[in-house]
Amino acid sequence: MSNWIKICALDDILPLGSRVVDLEEGPVAIFRTADDEVFALADSCPHKQGPISQGIVHGKSVTCPLHSWVIGFEDGEAGAPDVGCAKTFAVQIKGGEVYLEASLAPLKLVTAND
Ligand code: FES
Repeated sequence: MSNWIKICALDDILPLGSRVVDLEEGPVAIFRTADDEVFALADSCPHKQGPISQGIVHGKSVTCPLHSWVIGFEDGEAGAPDVGCAKTFAVQIKGGEVYLEASLAPLKLVTAND
């Protein structure tokens, strides 16, 4: 069974907002949907590495702020006709807190995109 590391309270991420965690391999954006689900993706658009944490969340997707590619939260895939994939990370909510899989030990919490 995986171990999990607490990142923040769910309420620290506004609905349709995001928060960025710095991992050794780069920044990861944790998104909250309108339905209070959370998803974690590399904060780097598969198009030209735009900061998708600054994008617009809708449904289970985010629209990149740079050139409007739509990236799906569940698989990180860009919506057609665009082709590309953002890395996804294991994340869950437990007791009102957001957890990342512990092998992804964060270096620091960088920003809240409220
Ligand atoms: S960098 Fe995201 S759409 Fe171009």
